Amino acid sequence: MTNYSNYTIRALESHETIAVRQLVLRPNQPIEACHFVGDEAADTFHFGAVTSAGEVIGVSTVLCCHESRYQQFSSQRQLQLRAMAVLPDFQRQGTGKALLNVCLKEAAKRDCKTLWCNARSSAVDFYLKGGLSIVNEDAFEIEGVGPHHVMFKHLDD
Ligand SMILES: CC(C)(COP(=O)(O)OP(=O)(O)OC[C@H]1O[C@@H](n2cnc3c(N)ncnc32)[C@H](O)[C@@H]1OP(=O)(O)O)[C@@H](O)C(=O)NCCC(=O)NCCS
Repeated sequence: MTNYSNYTIRALESHETIAVRQLVLRPNQPIEACHFVGDEAADTFHFGAVTSAGEVIGVSTVLCCHESRYQQFSSQRQLQLRAMAVLPDFQRQGTGKALLNVCLKEAAKRDCKTLWCNARSSAVDFYLKGGLSIVNEDAFEIEGVGPHHVMFKHLDD
């Protein structure tokens, strides 16, 4: 658990991430669209920024990939960062960075070499500042969400 002035970063249960995911990432979609395959897997971890009043203001999820998803990544065991989201009133105040850092720290403890994500193009600069790199400049479309770039960080960098 890491304490910041207005909130604590702590591990969450899968169900505790859903409200923020829906508000920030899937505002026009049903709650079912906010549950992901692997959410409940034993090796999945979720983190949240939680105020002293118990409000979850930011979330992130890391899933273990047991097969190589991208040839650029040599390791067979990769981690996928998903559903990074901070409530609008709390954005640009360091919360996303704190969540990303906790995910990277936890990921480094696993037997995995690479953390990657499908980054919304609007969030690419956030991930670049967090130390991730773009696989290539070509964006791809996720239907109903918009353009994305694959981004990654080698965990021993
Ligand atoms: C992207 C998101 C998770 C970032 O969280 P945040 O709390 O707003 O980010 P932080 O305040 O920790 O920002 C860390 C740094 O990245 C920068 N940054 C954050 N979001 C940015 C953005 N969209 N574009 C450019 N820079 C950004 C900040 O200015 C800050 O820079 P600094 O270290 O030079 O001061 C959050 O804005 C969000 O939920 N956005 C909407 C949903 C989304 O796009 N999620 C990502 C899905 S892939």
